[in-house]
Amino acid sequence: MKILANDGLAQNAIDHFLNEGIEVDTNHYDKEELMKVGGDYNVIVVRSNTKIDREVAEALKGTNTSLVIRAGVGLDNIDINACKEVGIDVDYTPHSSKNAVTELVLGQMINLSRFLSLADRTTKEGQWNKKLYNGHEIAGKTLGVIGFGRIGQSLGEKALALGLKVIYYDLYKVENDYAEYFELDDLLKNADYISIHLPSLDKPLIGKRELDLMKETSILINYARGNAIDEEALIEALKNRKICGAAIDVFPNEPKVNEKYFELDNVALTPHIGASTYEAQNNIGNEIISIVDNYFGDKK
Ligand code: MLT
Repeated sequence: MKILANDGLAQNAIDHFLNEGIEVDTNHYDKEELMKVGGDYNVIVVRSNTKIDREVAEALKGTNTSLVIRAGVGLDNIDINACKEVGIDVDYTPHSSKNAVTELVLGQMINLSRFLSLADRTTKEGQWNKKLYNGHEIAGKTLGVIGFGRIGQSLGEKALALGLKVIYYDLYKVENDYAEYFELDDLLKNADYISIHLPSLDKPLIGKRELDLMKETSILINYARGNAIDEEALIEALKNRKICGAAIDVFPNEPKVNEKYFELDNVALTPHIGASTYEAQNNIGNEIISIVDNYFGDKK
């Protein structure tokens, strides 16, 4: 049996599969190559870099590949219908990355409120901007969580310990004893920090209208999917200081990043690293081991 981990795989899972006599290939194949060689593998594991679109799925039709696993919480880079049509099953690992994502969100809240990356850069450039970097505390402020699932709730729980009031918006009200449900517009008007934790959307949830509702002191954070925000509207709002700042980890056309961001000092960018911790990737490795064990049983 052969597994292709096209965007890499944690060592615990590699070791486990090798011990079971399963071949693991951690080379990265681009789309053309994947369409040629992918069918040699029984399982293909991907993160966000590899897209299993209809063309790729059709190239895998009738080959050895019977299972595609998305190492992550979202399935937006996999055409599930196309996979189904060609007889390939799809699974994912929704349980593993909540601490990795939410710790980074909290880090960016503090970063932007206290100018950490800016102060680091300018101090290394020889400047001493003590007066310029008078920041804000996050304790006592309101965090608005958009999407109150596993990751949103994990963020809410951690934020409480830092003295934030937590409010949330979701399609469904979620039973809990600390965070009040707000309609989206009300959340946008009331929150000091707004963090998005939604699956991929067909059209942006946050555009000019929504940005106009937000406080001028507010900070918007997106560690979910790039298409949740209208990027041009956000860039305008940041440029005109309509909102105070933003932290963005995900982009509509990854790995391309809109260069207009580079001129702004009130946005903190990261290259889709929300789930990139050793712990999260190890846990994802364990989830993948269980998926493969359950799927193939003794047939491995
Ligand atoms: C996720 O869906 O969990 C992440 O986007 C995974 C990744 O970092 O590729």
